[in-house]
Amino acid sequence: MKKIQMVDLQSQYYKIKSEVDNAVLNVMDSAAFINGPEVKSFQADLENYLDVKHVIPCANGTDALQIALMALDLKEGDEVITADFTFAATVEVIHLLKLKSVLVDVNYDTFIIDTDAIKKAITPRTKAIIPVHLFGQCSNMEEILKIAKEHNLYVVEDNAQAIGADFIFSDRTEKKSGTMGTIGTTSFFPSKNLGCYGDGGAIFTNDDELAHRLRGIVNHGMYERYYHDEVGVNSRLDSIQAAILRKKLPNLDSYNEARRKAADYYDEAFAGNENILTPKRAENSTHVFHQYTLRITNGKRNELQQFLAEKEIPAMIYYPVALRKQKAYYQESDPADFINTDKLLDQVISLPMHTELDEEQLKYIADSVLEFFASRYGE
Ligand SMILES: Cc1ncc(COP(=O)(O)O)c(C=O)c1O
Repeated sequence: MKKIQMVDLQSQYYKIKSEVDNAVLNVMDSAAFINGPEVKSFQADLENYLDVKHVIPCANGTDALQIALMALDLKEGDEVITADFTFAATVEVIHLLKLKSVLVDVNYDTFIIDTDAIKKAITPRTKAIIPVHLFGQCSNMEEILKIAKEHNLYVVEDNAQAIGADFIFSDRTEKKSGTMGTIGTTSFFPSKNLGCYGDGGAIFTNDDELAHRLRGIVNHGMYERYYHDEVGVNSRLDSIQAAILRKKLPNLDSYNEARRKAADYYDEAFAGNENILTPKRAENSTHVFHQYTLRITNGKRNELQQFLAEKEIPAMIYYPVALRKQKAYYQESDPADFINTDKLLDQVISLPMHTELDEEQLKYIADSVLEFFASRYGE
């Protein structure tokens, strides 16, 4: 059996090696390393795939979030609501810009931001909501857009983990994740569903004026060459990464399908086990399984992780600490407002999930998880 990894980037690369190698060599030949034609072409390819008017490539997913917030002209102390259970980048950029993060609970079954908690957290200083499409499925965008409209708030979708997922509105129209809010952002970190071979990110919007603004901010606040109208940043997707992403984008749907197939296997293997809760698929979103995350309800999550490690199966805890309890972003809170987050921190464990898992590996992983409960807890 092939060695099991959380993410197997090498096997995925080998399947498209000659295409990718040629694309990279062409960039080398052209010497158009920065803002070359590959970047423009990738931008157009992604606009087309997502059916969004503007894609603004940038250096990584954290920059994408920061630049999105910069374009909204928020003032120091303005409040931005986001999930307490997510990767730190989402909250980090709020603090970097001297805004106030207001962290709220997530849904226990789907891990995505709880819309009732959003409503409860709104104050006169609230200016924006950042729903994070965590682990590969969309937050409830229909409800979030409704709340945002009622309260005149911006919505910045953190779509680092769900590129390619579809949100299904109640009138059955479908939109790609990241294209529904005021702005959407994503990351092309190598292990992401659409990953490059280094760092990369992008910002999406359907608003022409905002797109113009975002393009200026990513480029030193420059709207006309060497005229700096505002303080911006230097955040570029380089041409080599764009060339790689152009070769990978046509495979994104099949990559996501491969992840869903692996998730189906896990779901079936664990169905009915009283110690394991499988991730729930939201009714209004397709799931692209950036992570496959179980909840272990008998308190033995850490022991399971150790048991799997002994069998050379990597498994990760995304995420072990609530953001509101991190030193950098600490805020006083009432545990009653974070019942789900606090439970998840103790229960979640993410199993290997990528496009290259074969049946032998899946069986070994699933059998090992089940063996842990059967041998140690008399299942
Ligand atoms: C939810 C979320 N937001 C933002 C980011 C930041 O992306 P990057 O690592 O490209 O800066 C990540 C990546 O790990 C993420 O998972």
